[in-house]
Amino acid sequence: MNFISTDENTLVGIEAIDKQHKEFVKILNKLYSLKNSQDVEKKKEEMQKLEAHIKEHFQTELDLMVKYKDPGYISHKLEHERMEKKISQEVRKFAANPGTISEEFLNDLKRWFFNHLEFNDRKLAKHIKSVT
Ligand SMILES: [Fe+2]
Ligand SMILES: [Fe+2]
Repeated sequence: MNFISTDENTLVGIEAIDKQHKEFVKILNKLYSLKNSQDVEKKKEEMQKLEAHIKEHFQTELDLMVKYKDPGYISHKLEHERMEKKISQEVRKFAANPGTISEEFLNDLKRWFFNHLEFNDRKLAKHIKSVT
């Protein structure tokens, strides 16, 4: 069973966003499955993938917010910055203590994803649909 799974209810209806959200879910499941693995290199690779993915994804959403003059821009951007910092911190922690992927961190990410989806991303998607 997957650590995190999504269905059509988690889609926001903007292709670029939905595609990247699916990628996030994939990375999170991979990290969870690697949690107890001895393969430190693979874990490191996946942690870096997470960091790179989140940067790319936040930039995609930010570009959309700017392009469509989204009124939720400020709070959405702040929320991204908070999460990006947290992930970078965790990646650094992992580098200092290779081999350990915190389950608490993965649970936080999962919780954050669903909250953020409902409170920020869905609003952005709604706004885009209302102006296009
Ligand atoms: Fe977002
Ligand atoms: Fe998002």
